[in-house]
Amino acid sequence: MANNIYLIGFMGVGKSAVASELQKKLSLPLIEMDQEIVDRQGMEISEIFVQHGEAFFRDLESDLIREIAQGDGAIVSCGGGAVLRKENVDRMQQSGMVVLLTAEPETVLARVGNSTHRPLLEGKMNVDAIRALMEQRRPAYEDACQYFVPTDGKRPAEIADGIVILRELRGDA
Ligand code: S3P
Repeated sequence: MANNIYLIGFMGVGKSAVASELQKKLSLPLIEMDQEIVDRQGMEISEIFVQHGEAFFRDLESDLIREIAQGDGAIVSCGGGAVLRKENVDRMQQSGMVVLLTAEPETVLARVGNSTHRPLLEGKMNVDAIRALMEQRRPAYEDACQYFVPTDGKRPAEIADGIVILRELRGDA
């Protein structure tokens, strides 16, 4: 049965927080893609970007999705750029439900403003730069997702409740 739950969306929309609430509610294994890559490489994301470049990181991301998509019943908190390759999106859609979390650029800035692990926003931690990258990515996110959840002003637990209901409606539970 292809019933993974993939949470996709821009940096700072709350994928990790919602994934952790889902884990409490569903008692399924949780895969934090970024953390998994950091653990396997023994290097922080920013370090991977500096030492090996973004394309190398994207390859790691694709390899990990290929691996995850072969399994079942996992909650997957995806890196913000995981939808940039069509092969990744195809694998996600074929192996589970793909839920897009969104947030206003102001909310994203408030959530990731102090982060040192977002190389793509390094030197660009401001609302305009976040909005620009978000707009550039919007088509990729919208094409990839089957469900769409705005997160501004909502608690991760209530968002997770909604996803649990969607999952039941799909017959994936
Ligand atoms: C990225 C998002 C990050 C991380 C990397 C690249 C992106 O993940 O994978 O810095 O391209 O949007 P989060 O969305 O978990 O911050």
